[in-house]
Amino acid sequence: MKKLLLFFVALIVYHSFSSAQNKQSQMPIYKNAKASIENRVKDLLSRMTIQEKAGQLNQLAGLIATGPAANDPGEKAKMTELREGKVGSFLNVIGAKETKAVQKIAVEESRLGIPVLFGFDVIHGFKTIFPIPLAEACSWDLHQAETNAAIAAKEAAAAGIHWTFAPMCDITNDPRWGRIMEGVGEDPYYGGLLSAARVKGFQGNLNDAEHILACVKHYAVYGAVEAGREYNEVDVSRVMLWNKYLPTYKAAVEAGAATVMNSFNVFEGVPTSANKYLVTDILKKKWGFKGFLVSDWNSFGEMITHGYATDKKDVAMKAINAGSMMDMQTEAMVKYIPELVKEGKVSMQTVDDAVGKILYYKFKLGLFDDPYKFCNEEREAKVTFTKANREEALKAAHSSIVLLKNANNTLPVSNNTKIALVGYYANSPEDLFDFWVGKGTSNDAVTLYDGFKNKFGNSLIAYTKGYNADGSTNDNLINEAVNATANADVVFVNVGLTGKLAGEDRSVANPVIADGEVQLLKALQKTGKPIVALVTAGRPLVLTQINNLVSSIVYCWILGTETGNAVADVVTGLYNPSGKTVVSFPYAVGQIPVYYNHFNTGRPTATDDAGNWFSRYRDIPNDPLYPFGFGLSYTTYQYSNLTLSSSSIKKTDKLQVNVTVANTGKVDGEEVVQLYIRDIAASIIRPVKELKAFKKIALKAGESKELNFILTGKDLSFYDADGNSKLEAGNFKIFVGGNSKDVLEKDFNVQ
Ligand code: NOJ
Repeated sequence: MKKLLLFFVALIVYHSFSSAQNKQSQMPIYKNAKASIENRVKDLLSRMTIQEKAGQLNQLAGLIATGPAANDPGEKAKMTELREGKVGSFLNVIGAKETKAVQKIAVEESRLGIPVLFGFDVIHGFKTIFPIPLAEACSWDLHQAETNAAIAAKEAAAAGIHWTFAPMCDITNDPRWGRIMEGVGEDPYYGGLLSAARVKGFQGNLNDAEHILACVKHYAVYGAVEAGREYNEVDVSRVMLWNKYLPTYKAAVEAGAATVMNSFNVFEGVPTSANKYLVTDILKKKWGFKGFLVSDWNSFGEMITHGYATDKKDVAMKAINAGSMMDMQTEAMVKYIPELVKEGKVSMQTVDDAVGKILYYKFKLGLFDDPYKFCNEEREAKVTFTKANREEALKAAHSSIVLLKNANNTLPVSNNTKIALVGYYANSPEDLFDFWVGKGTSNDAVTLYDGFKNKFGNSLIAYTKGYNADGSTNDNLINEAVNATANADVVFVNVGLTGKLAGEDRSVANPVIADGEVQLLKALQKTGKPIVALVTAGRPLVLTQINNLVSSIVYCWILGTETGNAVADVVTGLYNPSGKTVVSFPYAVGQIPVYYNHFNTGRPTATDDAGNWFSRYRDIPNDPLYPFGFGLSYTTYQYSNLTLSSSSIKKTDKLQVNVTVANTGKVDGEEVVQLYIRDIAASIIRPVKELKAFKKIALKAGESKELNFILTGKDLSFYDADGNSKLEAGNFKIFVGGNSKDVLEKDFNVQ
């Protein structure tokens, strides 16, 4: 009897074991979390119809439009497409609850249950808003930039977002272009380091629900739009492409960015989305990019308006055959790829390569194993807009501010100095933010008025508008401002441009201080009181008209949630400014583009009054008003003892550069020590200066430090027109200083 019982138990155990095994073997590999991602992708591809594959290449927008929303099919139609496996990704669907509802349709109602990717422009914060990227760049603090991106990712991830369309790596020299605010400034070397830090911050190791995919954009040369006009044409040479524009994208790709976005412009007459040279030859082959590409908003469709493709079918063929992949908003891929494959105009291998890469990241993020991993309402409430996040935003804002002028040490002022604050924008939350603020709301942000009220209390004796929302003014507003400041010891005036004029589709022909604001400053100057200009803008403005009307200029950019607190800390000296510009401030609009890393020309001027027949303007200087790398502190720094380890090195040698920097003032501070080189003569002419290294150091009052930099052959190389890196023998110069103009210099040569 006992034996019989044992026999039955064994039978039951055997049966349940083998049915579990059967189930396992019946379970598709792509659903098996233990299988490798490569095998899961392969298995899934083998089960997909060509229509389902084309669906993975389709990205549609949710409720918010961040581009022209013509022909939006409506929510119902989009959900039908999703059920049919015709949508691989949504952009602009935000929130744990919202993304969960859409994801449920994808995984529970489509044939293969492939989760969708949710993308969103998390540009400088999600709910806690950090300084705009251009301002953040002025901190020269890569660690802070990485932290800012990581916090933005954490907040966005909890709201269901898997993917940000950032960082923008477009080098530009044009403050007329509204998107200068989103970038890294005018230097490719620094731009690369910064973009890499941002990628690392967003992505981490992509193995948790706190980091998101980064997107290197806009590939390529979008920042060179002619005359700074948005979406305009671009025409640059290959030498400039390789040396000036590509290094920043390259550094971000090398930092492991999962995705890259095609730009709107053309390169050599071919829209970048269909540009095989850029996408296949450089990005994929030369740089070994393994992630996937996404178009910009209808940039595939715009190939037709550019005059490069005849219709959407032509668009799909040209884009995918050039190596482009996901289609934001054109719906050309989802509609025409099946037909194109059938006709033999696009190979199945090309489609599988593109789809496989998108699927790879869906697996990598863990979405097949837990499609709701990111959309977590509880976490969303807990990690968003926290005190700790705001503290980081304040630190980031402190270090982004650039002190451009400080005559007679007007700043800092103590917080019991009687001050007046003037300026419409200073007390207008809606002018405080730009377009790219994710889910941030300006009412949650600290305006200049609020920050000054917090800091100065009753010592803030007056606030008046001084000008209207559009920068115009009138006698009443001016008189009111002059009267209100009568009892103040120092007058702070917020001038600049509304945040609404920063970002995409916000090009301006005249990036200047508005006439009304200049008039206001002239009237206030007549009072004889020290005037401090607090300039808020998403771009470097021409400041020449106001430079001599004011004692101090604090360039605040657009600082995000903690604006008012950060500026109040700086003007009172609680934080000693350490920011340095990453763009040149033009002397006049007609001087644009003006940038430090220009070429020498055949007829350079040593000085602006050097005589005739030189490359110069007759009415203004050649130099910008404030150079690249410039920024003051409440202390002063002295540079000395620039020495090189050798005055002649071999190509394989390293060169050590030493310099001593002393804090010669009365307060502690931080200084950005910058090292530039010049290659005197080469087979392709080189810029008069190129940044090659920097260090941000803290120096106590009276302290001095000896710093050293190591340069290698890579730092002394440049690219030829084919993208080959070249290190040539010859004479070089080294410059070290606190900005690109005031430098110590030494010569050396490479044998
Ligand atoms: C167009 C912009 O150029 C791009 O930067 C952005 O990511 C997309 N729209 C999506 O909003």
